[in-house]
Amino acid sequence: MITTVVVGNPKPNSRTLTSATLLAEALTGRPADHVLDLVDLESGLLARDDEAVGAAVRTVVQSDVVVIASPTFKGTYTGLLKLFLDRFAGRSGMQGVVAVPLMLGAGPTHAMAPDLLLRPVLAELGATCVLPGLYLLEEKYNDSTELAEYTRRWEPVVTKLVATTRATARGYGAAETISPPFTAVDAADARLLRDAFGCFPSGVAAVCSLVDGEPTGMAVSSFTSVSLDPPLVSVCVDNESTTWRRLRAAGRIGVSVLSEAHEAVCRSLAARTGDRFAGLTLHTTVGGAVLIEGATAWLDCMIQDEIPAGDHHIVLLRIAGLRTGPETRPLVFHQSGFRRLIEVPT
Ligand SMILES: Cc1cc2nc3c(=O)[nH]c(=O)nc-3n(C[C@H](O)[C@H](O)[C@H](O)COP(=O)(O)O)c2cc1C
Repeated sequence: MITTVVVGNPKPNSRTLTSATLLAEALTGRPADHVLDLVDLESGLLARDDEAVGAAVRTVVQSDVVVIASPTFKGTYTGLLKLFLDRFAGRSGMQGVVAVPLMLGAGPTHAMAPDLLLRPVLAELGATCVLPGLYLLEEKYNDSTELAEYTRRWEPVVTKLVATTRATARGYGAAETISPPFTAVDAADARLLRDAFGCFPSGVAAVCSLVDGEPTGMAVSSFTSVSLDPPLVSVCVDNESTTWRRLRAAGRIGVSVLSEAHEAVCRSLAARTGDRFAGLTLHTTVGGAVLIEGATAWLDCMIQDEIPAGDHHIVLLRIAGLRTGPETRPLVFHQSGFRRLIEVPT
């Protein structure tokens, strides 16, 4: 959320400026990103194409919340502020901005001025101007009680308005705040996380090698491409995996991207007991990488790095050689089950 304060007091660093920055911070929970003390723009406001004035206008337009503040002179806001507001096009100049009018005055006589005079102008410029104007007595310019009272009432509205205003101004419809938002991840059990991860479909690869002359390997759905230069892929392996403990000692690791015909092969390569390679046709490279017949891609890899990541390790594999058969359809793993790809007609 970008917050800006615009201060139309001919005196620099005025009490109006202090009130406006306090209000912006109270409404958004953090200090304003920009404070535009219009007196700094001086005669630029009277010139036609002043760069600093143009930049100030852009700052306002790009903001989510703008507190527009002025002292009350002769019952209304200042000419300085008028000159600045004149730079915004009617109806659309402040579109997408949530504007909060604030005025300071010597006595209570003009307490309605922010609502009767300033707010209509901001609405006319296209700002979302829903909050009532705030009028502060000069001697109470930093009165925390008044500011706290206004904030308590309007801060939740500002949060909602910002989401909706930004979305509608950019033309993608109101962003709904989901309530209650999410299941707290701390409270999530493994089942909940598995279900969430399972929403993301992946392929399945076999990661295999000769260890002590015996084919050794496992099925992984965590295979992913990483880098072209150098050529890298990765898999995530469970810290408890006994298979990986043996595989990591191997010089070369074969990665076979399983095909849709490999459903049973995949189950076999994940089996806890028995010979995972029984009945499979294997190819072995000189370096000891083991590859599965009928895969859609074969990669001959070396381990580049192993990065601890929670209860898994991310294993970076550097590709030394490869062979692909893109006409062979891959196996798809989704929500704990195997799927097939179907072509989307163009
Ligand atoms: C479809 C599928 C995907 C799998 N993906 C992974 C994986 O990404 N990482 C992993 O460590 N184990 C994965 N597994 C489990 C291993 O294939 C295998 O069951 C596990 O390594 C067996 O434990 P062990 O290594 O102690 O023998 C997957 C299993 C299946 C069926």
